[in-house]
Amino acid sequence: MEPVTTLLDNNRKWAAQRVKNDPHFFTRLAGQQDPAYLWVGCSDSRVPANEIVGLDPGELFVHRNVANVVVHTDVNCLSVLQYAVDVLKVQHVIVCGHYGCGGIRAALDGTAHGLIDNWLQHVQDVKEAHQAELLSFADVDDRINRLAELNVVEQVRNIARTTIVQDAWRRDQKLKLHGWIYGLTDGLIHDLGVSVSA
Ligand code: CO
Repeated sequence: MEPVTTLLDNNRKWAAQRVKNDPHFFTRLAGQQDPAYLWVGCSDSRVPANEIVGLDPGELFVHRNVANVVVHTDVNCLSVLQYAVDVLKVQHVIVCGHYGCGGIRAALDGTAHGLIDNWLQHVQDVKEAHQAELLSFADVDDRINRLAELNVVEQVRNIARTTIVQDAWRRDQKLKLHGWIYGLTDGLIHDLGVSVSA
């Protein structure tokens, strides 16, 4: 592992390189952010939001948690969504899960993991709603990957049902929701075809 001072060195080099390429990069960004997209993804270190979709600082508003879950009582997530929709006026909200998700695996395996099990109960609810389909997969990794997909679909639905999104659609604000899944083994994103707009 790198010592933490290396990270600060890396930061100085990164900032210097940015200014070298574009002298006004930081002064422009500091003036305002104007992202067109909100990303709701997993906290997994292997799924760095901006990087995998080729977006720069200022171009993607991001919320990440374990297993990319959107819960109607999660003030943190809802605050991000409200700011993104009402203030930043993002035009797209993307829920992006990923195959091989440890949170999904933990929700499926039926053993105790401590505090996180309370959070993963939301994924277990998705599992229980699709039990028959999930059991049709003999391979446990296939089952995890299918639940990762189903979980994304469910979270897109949850976002659609929020007062934030319903109100935006009622006032004819341009806003589209999308469900995507990312492959850790090939770096590719697949659109799950559940996009929804007003
Ligand atoms: Co994950």
